[in-house]
Amino acid sequence: MRKNVLITGASSGLGAGMARILAAKGHNLALTARRVDRLEALKAEIEADHPDVEVVVHALDVNDHDQVFAVFKQSIRELGGLDRVIVNAGLGKGGRVGTGKFHANKETVETNFVAALAQCEAAMEHFYERKAGHLVVISSMSAMRGMPGSITAYAATKAGLAHLAEGIRSDLINRKGHDIKVTTLYPGYIASEMNEGVEQEVRLMVDTETGCKSLVKAIEKEVVESAIPPWPWAPLGQVMKHAPLSVVRRMV
Ligand SMILES: NC(=O)c1ccc[n+]([C@@H]2O[C@H](COP(=O)([O-])OP(=O)(O)OC[C@H]3O[C@@H](n4cnc5c(N)ncnc54)[C@H](OP(=O)(O)O)[C@@H]3O)[C@@H](O)[C@H]2O)c1
Repeated sequence: MRKNVLITGASSGLGAGMARILAAKGHNLALTARRVDRLEALKAEIEADHPDVEVVVHALDVNDHDQVFAVFKQSIRELGGLDRVIVNAGLGKGGRVGTGKFHANKETVETNFVAALAQCEAAMEHFYERKAGHLVVISSMSAMRGMPGSITAYAATKAGLAHLAEGIRSDLINRKGHDIKVTTLYPGYIASEMNEGVEQEVRLMVDTETGCKSLVKAIEKEVVESAIPPWPWAPLGQVMKHAPLSVVRRMV
């Protein structure tokens, strides 16, 4: 069992949902986000429900890269090592490229991609030292193709993140004597703060608990990659990859 799990962006949505499910399965947790009051409340809730589970929380803005390395190291010390890191913190801000929304697009790129690189670096340093560990990155179905309008930059970050994870996975091929795995997950629409009030997503949206159960199932199987939930997103992903762009742009 990968006992000790660090989750970034654990103050709401998928991060908090995965934390609850993993705690119920007996995992110790290091939970990070900027809204530390939310993390403290989640820690209290988990410790009340599962007294045997150890939970540490840390305020962390993933765009403060030095802090990413420091908080990961502190969590390693507190829990006695990390067995799994879930790179989950993310942002959905943005606007159509060329319409004056550079700052929102840039914030999304920095948070979802550059800061994700910092998290992968910090996790992999530790996993290489221990010759064991499981890196999980939360990409998105929007990574399948270039996406229009307000999610162009967002989708590009998620495609970049998936390629980053694949490159790290490639580094592990033929490397003997280790147990390091890399998993890339592509959620479709799961209810969270990020997509509150986005009406066109409701049709295929699953509730947070259903979505997080599907995420944890794929994580525990240590799959290379998976759409989440696999139905209907795995077949839809194939359509998205191969359909003409004029069709794909109407699917989002
Ligand atoms: N929900 C979906 O349908 C869906 C679909 C595809 C992919 N995803 C991905 O799933 C991940 C989780 O999103 P969510 O849906 O759960 O949205 P959410 O409820 O808005 O949660 C986002 C989390 O990321 C954290 N975060 C944002 N910026 C941060 C920063 N600069 N530093 C540290 N933490 C930061 C937030 O914490 P603080 O604000 O407290 O820092 C929050 O805990 C994201 O990577 C998102 O792109 C979600």
